[in-house]
Amino acid sequence: MKVAIIGQGYVGLTISAFAADYFDVSGFDSDQKIVEQLNSGISHIEGVESSTIIKLIKKGSYRATSKGSDIRECEIVVIAVPTPLTSDRKPDLSFIESACKTIGQNISKPVLIINESTSFPGTLRNFIKPTIEKNSSNSVTHSYAISPERVDPGRSDFNQKNTPRLYSGLTPEASEKTRNFYSRFCDELVEVSSPEVAEAAKLFENTFRQVNIALVNEFAQIAHSLGISVYETLDAANTKPYGFMKFTPSAGVGGHCIPVDPTYLAAVAEEHGAPATFIRRANEVNLEMSEYIVRRVSEDNDGSLQGKNVLVVGVAYKPNVADVRETAAELVINHLRNQGAVVSWHDEVVGSWKGESSAPLQGADITVVVTKHDSVDEKKILASAPYIFDTTGRVKGAKGL
Ligand SMILES: NC(=O)c1ccc[n+]([C@@H]2O[C@H](COP(=O)([O-])OP(=O)(O)OC[C@H]3O[C@@H](n4cnc5c(N)ncnc54)[C@H](O)[C@@H]3O)[C@@H](O)[C@H]2O)c1
Repeated sequence: MKVAIIGQGYVGLTISAFAADYFDVSGFDSDQKIVEQLNSGISHIEGVESSTIIKLIKKGSYRATSKGSDIRECEIVVIAVPTPLTSDRKPDLSFIESACKTIGQNISKPVLIINESTSFPGTLRNFIKPTIEKNSSNSVTHSYAISPERVDPGRSDFNQKNTPRLYSGLTPEASEKTRNFYSRFCDELVEVSSPEVAEAAKLFENTFRQVNIALVNEFAQIAHSLGISVYETLDAANTKPYGFMKFTPSAGVGGHCIPVDPTYLAAVAEEHGAPATFIRRANEVNLEMSEYIVRRVSEDNDGSLQGKNVLVVGVAYKPNVADVRETAAELVINHLRNQGAVVSWHDEVVGSWKGESSAPLQGADITVVVTKHDSVDEKKILASAPYIFDTTGRVKGAKGL
């Protein structure tokens, strides 16, 4: 069976690598450079080894492409394109729209279309289906389903195989075909009663994280003002065997999901006249953490950062990945620069970012740790400046939240 996967990023390439063990996969991406890299056997995604891509290409079960005509013969099309926010922080479905155009313009026989991109309830029914139909030259009737992606890039204990997968088709036939597809490479499939439930569940999962991270970030500020350790307090609370789940404070949330998905939920809620004040506030608390951290650093350094050399350690949004999307490090750096600090950053996993390169881990007046990759030596961090502020709780001996 031929399968097309639209979007070869974190989600699309990961799913392609699993699916290509069982199906003939065309990995479609609009970025020609990514396509060329993949076809020469180079993976750009953590968790998908280049050796896997080379093996699949050799076997003949995977090929990347940016030619619409290459997906013409597919029987299943999976959409895995970005769903970011617009500059005024509203859901941006433009990538989904362009993926739908590619499908509509190139596929003229009935196929199963599965959306894995995260979006608000109603996207499959009220946006994807009509957009594909509008762009199709004939009146072909496709099957439609949703199966929101839950992959956590860089994580090795949970993957496509052992993470339960939600799904629902617009019709029972679409649900059955979707189950047959994923059951080849996923152990547990959970069917829900409508695509809207699956879409909402995905948003709620990430909103749960956003809200709990905001709560612990607010609590970190309360604990500091009370003169107690937030980490010791959290560890103490975590001895309760039920009704508590431990989250840890940070400089804020990052990545393509946690800072974005709750806003999709809030937007659809407000459109339907339901309040989303809690979700909106959680987002604000997390965004405000960077300012709080810079204030604390400034207070500890005679109340001024003017002209001081500040080294930010870790600009990826989380440890052990090179992903800098929506990283809290950017806000921390902006606030430091607004205070007159001379800022450089160290992150050899990211290497280069925004036209700047990773600086050596040494010689600063102040070091602020935003993300600690496992490969970064704690002792070197501690030796990099006379004052270290650690937002991760992972550098013992440093000042911190
Ligand atoms: N990254 C995660 O951890 C994660 C986890 C679960 C769900 N998701 C969701 O999955 C979706 C994809 O996220 P991602 O992290 O894989 O994004 P990504 O940016 O890593 O990859 C998206 C890819 O799609 C390509 N693309 C964009 N528009 C296209 C088009 N019209 N046609 C073909 N290719 C196109 C881009 O070039 C890029 O390579 C999003 O909705 C996201 O919210 C992401």
